[in-house]
Amino acid sequence: MGIVFPPTFTFGSATASYQIEGAAAEGGRGPSIWDTYSHTPGATEFGDTGDVACDHYHRWREDVQHLVDLGVDAYRLSIAWPRVQPGGSGPLNPEGVAFYREVLTALNEAGIKPYVTLYHWDLPQELEDAGGWPVRETALAFEGYARAMARELGDLVHTWTTLNEPWCSAYLGYASGVHAPGRTEPAAAMAAVHHLNLAHGLAARAIREELGAEARVSVTLNVHQFYAASDSPEDADAVRQMDGIANRAFTGPMLDGAYPEDLVADLAEVTDFAFVAEGDLEVIHQPLVALGLNYYSTTYVRRAVEGMSVSDNAGHRASTTSPWVGVTTVEILPPEGPLTAMGWNQEPRGLTDQLLEFSARYPGLPLMVTENGAAFEDEVSPDGAVHDPKRVAYLQDHIAAVAAAMEQGADVQGYFAWSLLDNFEWAWGYARRFGLIRVDYETLERTWKDSARWYARLVATRELPE
Ligand code: NOJ
Repeated sequence: MGIVFPPTFTFGSATASYQIEGAAAEGGRGPSIWDTYSHTPGATEFGDTGDVACDHYHRWREDVQHLVDLGVDAYRLSIAWPRVQPGGSGPLNPEGVAFYREVLTALNEAGIKPYVTLYHWDLPQELEDAGGWPVRETALAFEGYARAMARELGDLVHTWTTLNEPWCSAYLGYASGVHAPGRTEPAAAMAAVHHLNLAHGLAARAIREELGAEARVSVTLNVHQFYAASDSPEDADAVRQMDGIANRAFTGPMLDGAYPEDLVADLAEVTDFAFVAEGDLEVIHQPLVALGLNYYSTTYVRRAVEGMSVSDNAGHRASTTSPWVGVTTVEILPPEGPLTAMGWNQEPRGLTDQLLEFSARYPGLPLMVTENGAAFEDEVSPDGAVHDPKRVAYLQDHIAAVAAAMEQGADVQGYFAWSLLDNFEWAWGYARRFGLIRVDYETLERTWKDSARWYARLVATRELPE
């Protein structure tokens, strides 16, 4: 007998609005920073854009049926802010709100719990034109948007997630520039970190003001799982520094109510944190029903000599500016294979470690794996099937890693496979496929891969085969 998950454990799958919806100029949707960025020559692989994506905006009924057929307990989706409030503040777009009401109603009717992310990177362009995340007004606008969504959709949402991976929004968007809006301004990136944190706190508070204290509010972080290349104190310090800028810059204010002192010291030459206004830290430090963690791989680092350039093996497109703001003496080691199509290593024990570390640091805070999955070069067999044994093995090993953490006492309440569908993988466009379900981008036809069948069986039986 394999590992058995309790009936209360939530198995789901996840997507994000810009990656699947398409219909970028339909239904009253306004432009987002990803429309602008993806239409900028050279910004994405092959110039791919989310204009059509998986055409989920028109095919969502079929996609909900796939979720039903998979048998998942929950579906993690995001709302496109520019679809429901095209200018980022001011009037709502009734057609956009109606779209999500329809989707959420169908999910509820099917008994699938909607986990709704408010911000999965598609900032209304108007807000970027007014300064974007480096300015405080963007966080205030986000509060208004969150409040409006709580009012409009609160009866249909099971769990709210304020932000998805603010690390990417801040550092890839404003430091390395490999994500929208493509700016390379390290000091602005730190201001973006703070205003994203503030946006989280303001939104969490607004949702509870609208829906009551029992409203289920969470946030999803991509905590980087760092390991030191050796036992030396220098390499341990490299981990400390990287963990500060990558992880504790968010968990500090959100979960502990303060920016870590060592991080503030490390960043002395970049910023004086003057963007932190009185009362901000209390606002950011909100109770959460769970912490969402997106986990894909591990990162090995060592202390390097001054002036050595910091490499970024995180699988992002090349940039001359580092996403690791303020870090000049850490070297990221090349990942060891076999790698996924993203160039990421596969090390499930990192997930066990991460879940155990968080449950030790924050007892009483339940954890959810809100994303996990892998891109591989899928091939379509002559009979139309997609045999993806590497993805099945990846999922199997990582779900076993979740079970291992639970056996050792971690309170992990759910797991969401990334992703339901092949989709627009940001700067990589359609050239990287993460789906359980293949999308043919010519015909927009959906085809279950073997991994979808494997996952459906797991969800139905709750038993992970040996
Ligand atoms: C994290 C992001 O939330 C998601 O949008 C992305 O597609 C996956 N990781 C894979 O890179």
